[in-house]
Amino acid sequence: MSRPKNQNYKGHGFSKGKEREQRALIRFKTTLMNTLMDVLRHRPGWVEVKDEGEWDFYWCDVSWLRENFDHTYMDEHVRICHFRNHYELTRKNYMVKNLKRFRKQLERDAGKLEAAKCDFFPKTFEMPCEYHLFVEEFRKNPGITWIMKPVARSQGKGIFLFRRLKDIMDWRKGTACKKFQGFEAQPSRYSISSSGGHDPRNSDDQRDEIPVENYVAQRYIENPYLIGGRKFDLRVYVLVMSYIPLRAWLYRDGFARFSNTRFTLNSIDDQYVHLTNVAVQKTSPDYHPKKGCKWMLQRFRQYLASRHGPEAVEALFRDMDNIFIKSLQSVQKVIISDKHCFELYGYDILIDQDLKPWLLEVNASPSLTASSQEDYELKTRLLQDTLHVVDMEARLTGREKRVGGFDLMWNDGPVSREEGAADLSGMGNSVTNTHLGCVNDRKKQLRQLFRSLQAQKKASS
Ligand SMILES: Nc1ncnc2c1ncn2[C@@H]1O[C@H](COP(=O)(O)OP(=O)(O)O)[C@@H](O)[C@H]1O
Ligand SMILES: [Mg+2]
Repeated sequence: MSRPKNQNYKGHGFSKGKEREQRALIRFKTTLMNTLMDVLRHRPGWVEVKDEGEWDFYWCDVSWLRENFDHTYMDEHVRICHFRNHYELTRKNYMVKNLKRFRKQLERDAGKLEAAKCDFFPKTFEMPCEYHLFVEEFRKNPGITWIMKPVARSQGKGIFLFRRLKDIMDWRKGTACKKFQGFEAQPSRYSISSSGGHDPRNSDDQRDEIPVENYVAQRYIENPYLIGGRKFDLRVYVLVMSYIPLRAWLYRDGFARFSNTRFTLNSIDDQYVHLTNVAVQKTSPDYHPKKGCKWMLQRFRQYLASRHGPEAVEALFRDMDNIFIKSLQSVQKVIISDKHCFELYGYDILIDQDLKPWLLEVNASPSLTASSQEDYELKTRLLQDTLHVVDMEARLTGREKRVGGFDLMWNDGPVSREEGAADLSGMGNSVTNTHLGCVNDRKKQLRQLFRSLQAQKKASS
């Protein structure tokens, strides 16, 4: 990072020239009070700093980033948990814009077949600016269902489904007056904003400059894969350590989030049927806090294998790998790849009845609040392993292909499972180093990894 233009900056980290190993303590800061805080406080050698204290590691929220990143000086070893313009991937409209552009570029450079590998997001239009294009598409397919989603909100807030253009006319009137007074009332069938919870993305990125709330109109997936008659989507975690070169890790654990109510297309106004967000489902009258509404990915993978056989499941999970990589590549050239930044993304994936995975959105701040004991344990493992990969302690060699529950899936190119056997065919080859929904024997692996790292260190000293 270049030195700050602004002299009001606060220095973070030690003065230049000191080696990473010399730090006896790692000073961390965070604004979140959930699983993350537990993990940070229990990490050996890490100490919490508050207020204006200097820090080495900051799990900041995106609004801090927007206000401070450009005029904060950071030493070499300092790390923060977002990329400066993360919204290129994590805002629903920008994600689609980048994917569409990347698809075009692939078609030009590598042909139609390669470009078709990007066809994993439902047809989407940015509203209101692509309204006329949307209407054209709408008229081509009368009777299908569409979903309207605010580009920068989360937890199902502000979402509604529709089938008639009239519903959009009403919405447009809201945008025409540019103020959206009372707009919340219109899609309130799906609004849970009365919970009063702070949505970090409400204050996100360019919302200062764009007072009108933008939406995307997206084709609704009408044939979701159902289990026990209920809809679900998957939450998968991807850790990006650098964009140039692209270096991305996939976590083995994740979960399926179920809706409480049986799926039907007869009642498109019922949020409990159509939105699988935990924040929505936990307000349902028949929600059981103990039971929750989640399945771990291992259970989900086994369920599918018993129904469809291992090959179909392998193909589905390979298609998901393709989604992770292509979506990251689509923003590789636009994200500012600062060496101080990393990002733990939460992918929302919906599977349809043909076992095709669809990318719904990518979250920059996936929920780290636990909804059950099992969920708490998953998030604790995930965060501990994230910190292992971020490696503030400078223990890793940089050649690791696995760290705890994380498998390196892309390192400036596909990473193969077998040592030395490069996957030259690109994505779609079964040797790619991903193990989503497979056994996560992370404790054993970490023990072996750190033991061998220590032995190497001893031998070289
Ligand atoms: N195109 C779609 N087809 C079917 N269901 C969808 C679609 N888009 C969103 N959903 C449902 O709505 C939920 C919320 O949508 P999402 O895009 O993740 O927005 P949010 O930021 O509010 O979580 C998803 O988890 C999924 O259950
Ligand atoms: Mg979501």
